[in-house]
Amino acid sequence: MYSEILPALRCPSCHSHLQPEVGQRAADGEILDAILDCGQCDRSYPVREGIADFLGTPQPTTPAQRVNEWPLTAWGYERVWRPFSLTLLSQSPFPYRLELPLIARLVQPTRGGLFLDIACSNGLYARALTRAMGAASGHVAALDHALPMLRDAQQRARAARLRISFVRASAQSLPFASASMSGATIGGSLNEIGDLDQCLREASRVLVPNGRFVAMVLTTARTSVGRLIQRAFEPGGVVFFSLDILLAAFARHGLPVVERESRGIVVFTQSTKAL
Ligand SMILES: C[S@@+](CC[C@H](N)C(=O)[O-])C[C@H]1O[C@@H](n2cnc3c(N)ncnc32)[C@H](O)[C@@H]1O
Ligand SMILES: [Zn+2]
Repeated sequence: MYSEILPALRCPSCHSHLQPEVGQRAADGEILDAILDCGQCDRSYPVREGIADFLGTPQPTTPAQRVNEWPLTAWGYERVWRPFSLTLLSQSPFPYRLELPLIARLVQPTRGGLFLDIACSNGLYARALTRAMGAASGHVAALDHALPMLRDAQQRARAARLRISFVRASAQSLPFASASMSGATIGGSLNEIGDLDQCLREASRVLVPNGRFVAMVLTTARTSVGRLIQRAFEPGGVVFFSLDILLAAFARHGLPVVERESRGIVVFTQSTKAL
């Protein structure tokens, strides 16, 4: 975690400011150990080995969420599973060199300010946003509830010498101030996030007016065989949305979609938070 994110951090329980007691820092200023104290409700949250933890004991609820707690998933998700499944679902080769510029164009991190990658897994979008930000003044935070994912994401960011703040928290209870983020991304995670409305409510809350919300979502298959396969994933906690339901949910939370691009059942949307 880096100092840039400290002013935006809030207690996820009572939304009050947090007082950091910083211990060890790395040579580049990364905060390795700290305690984030809430003056209001007396809760405190540790920063351990650079990752701020707002969750304590793991609480994944669905099988899909439990799988993301496995170190093997953290190792293989971005390396193997993600490119394979995205190519399959988009019905054409869809490598990162095509996807990441699309994300950067939709989010436009060169606008500066704070950006949040929600349910980041290995931190793919967080790294892409940090790179795309270039010399603009800003910072990217990346959040997930699975510690093995965050550890792997942190290693990748450090290896690439990118300053990214990693946070373990729930997408339904973001530990950030209202109107603190210029943009937020969520890549493939709305399909397994749990309470969709609460996640969108929180994403909308933390965005500044005119802030951008960019999502990559898997929508309902067009063939009956495809829909049958998708239904088999549902008991595991993976949900596929019809585009109409998805767009209505975004609009309900002040995130009307202003641009979208589809590749097979994979849909990229850019919402601008209503003023
Ligand atoms: C499909 S993967 C995300 C992929 C990643 N965004 C990318 O584009 O490479 C789903 C991630 O969401 C996380 N996750 C699922 N439900 C969550 C929740 N309610 N809060 C925070 N993270 C969640 C899982 O731990 C997992 O890492
Ligand atoms: Zn508090």
